[in-house]
Amino acid sequence: MSSKAPIGVFDSGVGGLSVLRALRAELPHEDFVYLADSGFAPYGERGDAHVITRTRTVTERLLQEHQVKALVMACNTATAAAIDLMRAAYPHLPLVGVEPALKPAVALSKTRRIGVIGTRGTLGSAKVRALHESLKDQAEFILVPCDGLADAIQNDDASQIAELCARYMQALGSFGNEEGQIDTLVLGCTHYPFAQQQLAAHAGENVTMIETGEPVARQTRRLLQAADLLKAQGQGQVALLTTGSPQVLEAAARRWLGI
Ligand code: DGL
Repeated sequence: MSSKAPIGVFDSGVGGLSVLRALRAELPHEDFVYLADSGFAPYGERGDAHVITRTRTVTERLLQEHQVKALVMACNTATAAAIDLMRAAYPHLPLVGVEPALKPAVALSKTRRIGVIGTRGTLGSAKVRALHESLKDQAEFILVPCDGLADAIQNDDASQIAELCARYMQALGSFGNEEGQIDTLVLGCTHYPFAQQQLAAHAGENVTMIETGEPVARQTRRLLQAADLLKAQGQGQVALLTTGSPQVLEAAARRWLGI
């Protein structure tokens, strides 16, 4: 494995670009191959078997065609369903996943009432249920699966995004800094940072939203360093691949990453 090889990053669509943004800031010399599996999306409402098959297929493609030196699963749904299997299948590949940031939310919340939004697949997964269980004594978590929201963001459908944000934020309850109100919202799907403004319109100014891009980028650096695979020089190239519409991915990359 060469330190000059690129890092593979994948998601079911454009959501993982929110993680890629943090990766590029943390690792400016690294090259990235980003794969949006939007031809087989959404992952969040399709069940584990589909997500596991797609994760394996995408990983094989990134390894065989691009010889990636590490893999970032920039998708909460894929991480929840498949990361244990992936670690067993690729024991020598530095592998980083994303999971809803419940623990950091406990550290930040003053009201101890925390909202968590994500896909049905993620929030119903054994991994997230176990995480939730382990933190139940420290805060109250309100989990709301947001069917359709990742898809609406993927399609850049402004009216659908607005409607779904209104519906799910209402389902979470009351936001604010008073006792009994939610003061911290965990964005448990990598698509959701791209709807942060619409979500904030319902949450109000004092609510903290937590996404996972930066900690994932720092963890990627740590793993590369430990494996002696950090690239010390270079401009940092990004290649964009998709199993769906290249126009959608290019437009999203231009808009959110300026590339
Ligand atoms: N972006 C993905 C995640 O973080 C899921 C979107 C989808 O349902 O495909 O869970």
